[in-house]
Parts: sequence; structure tokens; C-alpha cells
Amino acid sequence: MRVALVVNGEPLEAEIWEGESLLYTLREHLGLPGSKNACEQGECGSCSVLLDGQLVCACLVLAAQADGHEILTVEGLGSDGELHPVQEAFAATGAVQCGFCTPGLVMATVDLLARVPEPSDDEIREALSGNLCRCTGYAKIFDAVRLAAGT
Ligand code: FES
Ligand code: FES
Repeated sequence: MRVALVVNGEPLEAEIWEGESLLYTLREHLGLPGSKNACEQGECGSCSVLLDGQLVCACLVLAAQADGHEILTVEGLGSDGELHPVQEAFAATGAVQCGFCTPGLVMATVDLLARVPEPSDDEIREALSGNLCRCTGYAKIFDAVRLAAGT
């Protein structure tokens, strides 16, 4: 089947298998490997994207379900060659180790700060609870969120 998506503001189409995940479509058909593929079962958050403004695990959404919808991936955050402030904050605080979890954490942080501009530590913990960092660098990730929030 064919799907038409708006990805990072750009209308894109892909020929897909009906059972294929949105994550697979983004990575393998649309040339957007920023969303990472780790568990493929909604456990790690490394594939997090915004679907019509809602944070979702792209591995749990069928590409067919996203047909006609808007998706924002980590590739779409920056503009004019500049990083998004949340990406800047992750880099500035050293919150990136191997970096595998980073795109998902950045997307979860963007989602959090859009909803709660000055989150408490508990609100940060809750918002990032679906994102696993195998390098266990959570202290610096918290620093990054606080820096991005200006708190
Ligand atoms: S790859 Fe989607 S939650 Fe882990
Ligand atoms: S920085 Fe390596 S998994 Fe988080």
C-alpha cells in the first residue's frame, strides 16, 4: 500500500507493507534514521516522535495508521542549520554518551517543555520515564532539561 505523510513539514509518500511500523518507514523508506530502533516493543523510547503533536513510540504505530498525519522527528527540530535549543542543551551539559538514546530523550524533552515550560524534577522524571539510557547518564540528562527550561 502507499502512504502519504507530512514529515518535518514535508509531504512524503512511501510504498509500504501493511504491517510495517512507522519507525521502519521513517528509517528504511524515507531516509530518516534519527529515530533509533532498539527494542521495537515500546520499552525504551529511542524511537520517540511527535505524531500530530503527541509523543509516541514510532515502533508501536503502524505506518498505515499515520497515513495523512503529521510527524516530527529529531531531524526536523533544528532550523537553518542550527540545533534546536533542547539539542544544544544536551550537548552543552554532556548529556550525550553513546548517543543512542539521545534522539528519543530530546523529543520527549521537547514534548515536556511544550506542555510544562518550567518542569519540576518530578515532572522531568515522569516525562522521561519511558526513555531508557543504557549508558545511565541520567544526572546530566536532567541537567540538560533544566538548562533547556532555563530553570
Ligand atoms: S524501539 Fe520503540 S520503544 Fe524501543
Ligand atoms: S547515551 Fe548511551 S544509551 Fe544513553
